[in-house]
Amino acid sequence: MKRYLSVCLFLLVQVAIAQKPINVDNEFAFAAQQYALMLKSHPDTTKFPQSTNPDGTVRNMSSDWWCSGFFGGSLWYLYERTKAPALKEAAQKWTMAVAKEQGNTGTHDLGFMLYCPFGNGYRLTKNATYPPILLTGAKSLATRFDPKVGVIKSWNKFQTYDYPVIIDNMMNLEFLFWAAKTSGNKDFYNLSVTHADNTMKNHYRPNYSSYHVVCYNPDGTVTAKKTAQGYADNSAWARGQAWGLYGYTVMYRETKDKKYLDHARHIADFYLNHPNLPTDKIPYWDFNAPAIPNEERDASAGAITASALLELCTYGGPSSKIYYQSAVKMLESLSSPTYKANLGENNNFILKHSVGHKPQKSEVDTPIIYADYYYLEALLRYDTLHRKPEFRS
Ligand code: GLY
Repeated sequence: MKRYLSVCLFLLVQVAIAQKPINVDNEFAFAAQQYALMLKSHPDTTKFPQSTNPDGTVRNMSSDWWCSGFFGGSLWYLYERTKAPALKEAAQKWTMAVAKEQGNTGTHDLGFMLYCPFGNGYRLTKNATYPPILLTGAKSLATRFDPKVGVIKSWNKFQTYDYPVIIDNMMNLEFLFWAAKTSGNKDFYNLSVTHADNTMKNHYRPNYSSYHVVCYNPDGTVTAKKTAQGYADNSAWARGQAWGLYGYTVMYRETKDKKYLDHARHIADFYLNHPNLPTDKIPYWDFNAPAIPNEERDASAGAITASALLELCTYGGPSSKIYYQSAVKMLESLSSPTYKANLGENNNFILKHSVGHKPQKSEVDTPIIYADYYYLEALLRYDTLHRKPEFRS
């Protein structure tokens, strides 16, 4: 009997540990302390915290790197929850540090670079100096859309190809929808819809996984389907699946066209039902990585997916509770010591264990700034939803 009781007690404790609810107050208190240390270690606003070098030192990047907006954006999310004036001041400073990229027509990443900091900053403060910067940035981004091809060009060159488009590019469309609404210029809206439609047609496989890179001819026909950051051309690179899921969820939000909702649901189902998705729901860096289970996880893909699912679940449908519960599981995993750093460790990033570019052996199993950004965003979304009766279990 005694033995039976102790086994029951042991199992109850295990269940309690496994289902420890997310305490958003605690998570934000920790993240704010960690980022206070990050701010202390980053006095120079030309050096943006990015990740960790192989020697363990912090890797900083300049404002023209595609990730420069995530630090300011994360500071805005921290300010949104904590209302700490010091975080607002820091967010303003790191937001303005990216302003000079508004005229940069050499990158497709202006959505990440400008909308994450300036978009959130404007949403929270209505600072009138931000919209003109954003609108200039949106015009710069739109120069990369060739109507004859029907998609926004990602990189200027990839291997021998002159018009490569990566699935990540779906993440720029939210910025362009904002620009359409703010300026009244419908071109931003129309080109976003055209880009999303062509990407749906050409990037997606019948099982709703996506290629990473699709290369176009000048007439809009496809010349090659490749990968840059995934394991193989035909594999499902985890972050690419996350970018697509997030992007088509936003497409539905902005257009209310049901085909985008259906597509987002199909992507979510591919991801969540994949036999290689671990039980903690944080994916390996590629769903088809050859040495699974001895491959690195990508916490950034987990954070992006959690955030996307926490929007997708609000659009109803029979799987809405599954999407919500899966996202909560992802957030529980990311908030556990397996993925979340201790105070003052991890070069002051919040999350450990992301993968940037494994084929190039770059940022493999390191913290990366965008994992933190989407983790904070997902926590804020969870905070709103978990009080709603339809999501309370
Ligand atoms: N946009 C590049 C990446 O996701 O690594």
